Amino acid sequence: MNAPWKSGMSAARDPFAAFICDDNALDTLRPVVAELGWAPEKCAKGGLRNAIQSLSVTSSPNILVVDLSECSDPLTEINGLAEVCEPGTVVIAVGQVNDVRLYRDLLASGIHDYLLKPLAASQVRDALNDAQAVFSAPKAHDAQGAKRHVSTAVVGTRGGAGASTIATSLAWLFSDEEKLPTALLDLDVHFGTGALTLDLEPGRGLTDAIDNPSRIDGLFIERAMIRANTNLAVLSAEAPISAPLMTDGAAFVQLEEEFRQAFEITVIDMPRNMLINFPQLLADVNVITLVCEFTLASARDTIRILSWLKTYAPHARTIVVANKVQVGMGEIARSDFEASIERKVDFVLPLDVKSATRAAKLGQAFVEANKSAKMAGQLRTIANQVLSTSDEDVETEEPAGKKSLLGSLDLKSLLSTSKAAKPSKPASPAKTKNKSKGPAKADA
Ligand SMILES: Nc1ncnc2c1ncn2[C@@H]1O[C@H](COP(=O)(O)OP(=O)(O)OP(=O)(O)O)[C@@H](O)[C@H]1O
Ligand SMILES: [Mg+2]
Repeated sequence: MNAPWKSGMSAARDPFAAFICDDNALDTLRPVVAELGWAPEKCAKGGLRNAIQSLSVTSSPNILVVDLSECSDPLTEINGLAEVCEPGTVVIAVGQVNDVRLYRDLLASGIHDYLLKPLAASQVRDALNDAQAVFSAPKAHDAQGAKRHVSTAVVGTRGGAGASTIATSLAWLFSDEEKLPTALLDLDVHFGTGALTLDLEPGRGLTDAIDNPSRIDGLFIERAMIRANTNLAVLSAEAPISAPLMTDGAAFVQLEEEFRQAFEITVIDMPRNMLINFPQLLADVNVITLVCEFTLASARDTIRILSWLKTYAPHARTIVVANKVQVGMGEIARSDFEASIERKVDFVLPLDVKSATRAAKLGQAFVEANKSAKMAGQLRTIANQVLSTSDEDVETEEPAGKKSLLGSLDLKSLLSTSKAAKPSKPASPAKTKNKSKGPAKADA
């Protein structure tokens, strides 16, 4: 029983705890618990509600026995336990309702076993031995233990380019279609749309994290993150715009670290200014998804950010995604854009106002609301590329710290070329005095 993003806190975990409503059952349970080498005082008086209360402030034990006798609706109330239970906890329920359907439903909800009152010592012993064997058995999850964490920061080169649309879509694809435990961290602290897009209340989690970085641990993120689907947890804020961001970035680094333990994928919606203020946030990011538009301003800032990334995140793979593209309508043709940034654009996503509007109306990520849209297919390919990125894939094409192209590039010429010439002739690479990347590609 557990929520998928909970971090393992095995170091601090007790081997056993029980919350039992009546003295008779406690009298049967305690000697068996002592026999198995656990502390009998871990058998507390109380039922499911006490268990939930207690586990919401302490880490969960490896094995938990919980009495459902005082529950009017055990199946519903047991969900509250799932919210506070850490991964791998083996839960044995105790109750006085002899109903096979309840038994089956409890097992389906993640309970390991159900013991009927009055308890017999032998029955309790067998159940606890069995639970211990289950807890110690290698788990499917552990088998993948060596599987590394993948983290991508989605950065827009210009405001409104669609970085958040792409970040929420990638997070949704990883969590829902790939079924991977995924964290979405929206670092646009004042104006973030991560929660809004997914029709969630952002809560105070990120604000609390920024205010108290030392409190950030596995337990904190379990409590602070908002669940968007079974595998997706979101941390975002709508900080008051009267409150300037007061942080040295330590909280964000700590969050990234905790996410690496608790999830398989981290998607960071990373505003440009955060990149500049806290370059340390990219230290362990595997993939930068750089979202641009075919405009003059975006060309300038794509060049600048690519150059910056070579210095500050040479280890990371960069995927350049042009968004909101209308064939033949952009300020700059794709070929000119690619010539100016001295690399290919990896993906060209179309302007699709209808689908974007539909997603907004449904309160869903773009890909969730438009599963068969062309752009959704492209986003799936981007997600696969992110997933398949390994550290070895990243080539350092040029030495870090290379001078930005900007100084030698006549940006305006790109604009006039595409305006005047209906891009039959791309901007001359010579204009850029560039380091010969070959002829520019034809427009898509
Ligand atoms: N391909 C697209 N076609 C049409 N509309 C799009 C497309 N991509 C994004 N949008 C829309 O553009 C708007 C801005 O997108 P989004 O919020 O993702 O951009 P952003 O880069 O995160 O912006 P900000 O700089 O404010 O963080 C949203 O209304 C979104 O629905
Ligand atoms: Mg945004």
